[in-house]
Formats: sequence, structure tokens, C-alpha cells
Amino acid sequence: MEENRVAFITGGTAGIGRECALTLAKEGFDIAINCRKEPEEYEEQRKEIEENNVKCFFTKGDVSKYEDAERMVKEVIEEFGKIDVLLNNAGITKDNLLMRMKKADFEDVINVNLVGTFNITKNVVPYMMKKRYGRIINMASVVGISGNAGQANYAASKAGVIGFTKSLAKELGSRNILVNAIAPGYIKTAMTDVLSDKIKEQIKEQIPLGTLGETKDVANLVKFLSSNDSSYITGQVIHVDGGMLI
Ligand SMILES: NC(=O)c1ccc[n+]([C@@H]2O[C@H](COP(=O)([O-])OP(=O)(O)OC[C@H]3O[C@@H](n4cnc5c(N)ncnc54)[C@H](O)[C@@H]3O)[C@@H](O)[C@H]2O)c1
Repeated sequence: MEENRVAFITGGTAGIGRECALTLAKEGFDIAINCRKEPEEYEEQRKEIEENNVKCFFTKGDVSKYEDAERMVKEVIEEFGKIDVLLNNAGITKDNLLMRMKKADFEDVINVNLVGTFNITKNVVPYMMKKRYGRIINMASVVGISGNAGQANYAASKAGVIGFTKSLAKELGSRNILVNAIAPGYIKTAMTDVLSDKIKEQIKEQIPLGTLGETKDVANLVKFLSSNDSSYITGQVIHVDGGMLI
């Protein structure tokens, strides 16, 4: 019997990451999830994933800490022996206008969203190189392309993720490792729940499709980029934004 492919998803216990974990489980991937609390806290999610006849493994850590990233990747390799798909999804916001933004708010967002992506990728790539196979998918944002008042830290981190993605696509293409970024617009998750109804209405007016996205809209693209149907696509930033940024 052919062995399952393995997907490692950072920030995979909530929102977009959780939906992607379930979607890939339905595709037959064994799933490794980076979580922030003790793995026992996620029994419900484990059950939901394992119902698809695949394995599920949780590893606790903070992607912004290099030693955590190193340990988590080691744990996943010990558990599954390989990582075929890496989804760098963990992310935070700490919004404010520059005049009010604290240095720590800038640094925290860069450290999780951009440095965290580096920390995990740096530790995963040697295993992908050995296998001469890999799919790296980085969660960027439309804001990393357009910028957004009140999100200088977040936009800078996501623009950084895009530059990182394109550079790695050039470095790793010859090893059959594809590296792409997804730029979601506004997707309904805890991250966007904090927006007031008034702001949500204003946002919808800027979206040709007239509505916020669902987590499955992003997960369906992750499914495609994780499959062999996308094997000639690398270095791209693919928008899932209802046409918000045309
Ligand atoms: N929701 C949106 O509208 C939207 C739009 C564009 C991009 N994104 C991006 O999509 C990704 C997922 O966002 P979401 O909306 O699902 O958010 P969410 O807040 O629902 O989930 C974020 C996940 O990241 C994890 N996380 C946070 N800090 C971490 C750290 N230091 N180490 C490890 N894990 C950490 C959280 O535990 C959580 O599981 C993020 O990178 C976000 O920037 C979201």
C-alpha cells in the first residue's frame, strides 16, 4: 500500500489553519499540527481529523522561537518520517496607526508572521531536499500587496513573506520543491471577528463579490497547491479575496 503524504500546518488549531488541516485530511494526508496549548486540549479536533482514516499529531510551540521551530519539526519527522507539504499559516495582528504603534507591537507581528515562517521553513527544507519533493505554502495577505492604514506591522510582515516565497521558489525549484503564497482578503475567522459591523459593511463595498470569504475558500486553494495538479506552479501569490484587489 502507498504511504500517506504528510502535511505540517502551523497555527492549525483555529480559523483558516484548522479548515486546511481537515481539508487535507479528507484528501488522505496524515496531519501534523503546531498548537499553542498542550496537545490533550485538542481531542475534538484530533477526532475530527482521524475520522478520515489518517493520523493526526500535535506539536506545541511558538513559531517565533527558533528553538521551538527546530524541536517541532524534529518531532514531526520522528512521528511521520517526512513532510511533503508545509503550510506556514500561524499569524497575528496588532493593529494601530504608526503614531500609536509600540515598538513591541511591530516586532511581535514581524517575529510571528515573517521570522516564524523562516524558522519553520529553514528546519523543514533539508528533509524536503533529501526527498526531492516538497510543497511550501505561505499564508500572506492582500494587505502585503496593497498596504493598509493601521497595519504597517502586519503589511510589512506579509510583504516580507511574499519576498521570501519568491526567493525560495528560485532556490528550490531544481529540487522539485514548489513554494507559493496565498493572499487572502477578508475571511471570516477570529482575526476578522474583532472588526465592527460598520467596518465590515465598508469592507464589503470594496469587494466585487460583495461578501467576506469563508475558511473553505482558502482551504480549497491549499488543497490544489498540495496536489499533483499544481506541479508546474511556483513562486506565485494567489489571491483569494472576492476580487478585492484587482
Ligand atoms: N482571516 C483573514 O481575513 C485573513 C486574511 C489574510 C491573511 N490571513 C492570514 O491567515 C493566517 C490564519 O489566520 P486566521 O484568520 O485563521 O487567524 P486565527 O487567529 O483564527 O488563527 C491563527 C492561528 O495562528 C496561531 N498562532 C498565533 N501565534 C502563533 C505563534 N507564535 N506560534 C504558533 N502559532 C501561532 C494561533 O494559535 C491560531 O491557531 C494568518 O497568517 C493570517 O495573517 C487571514
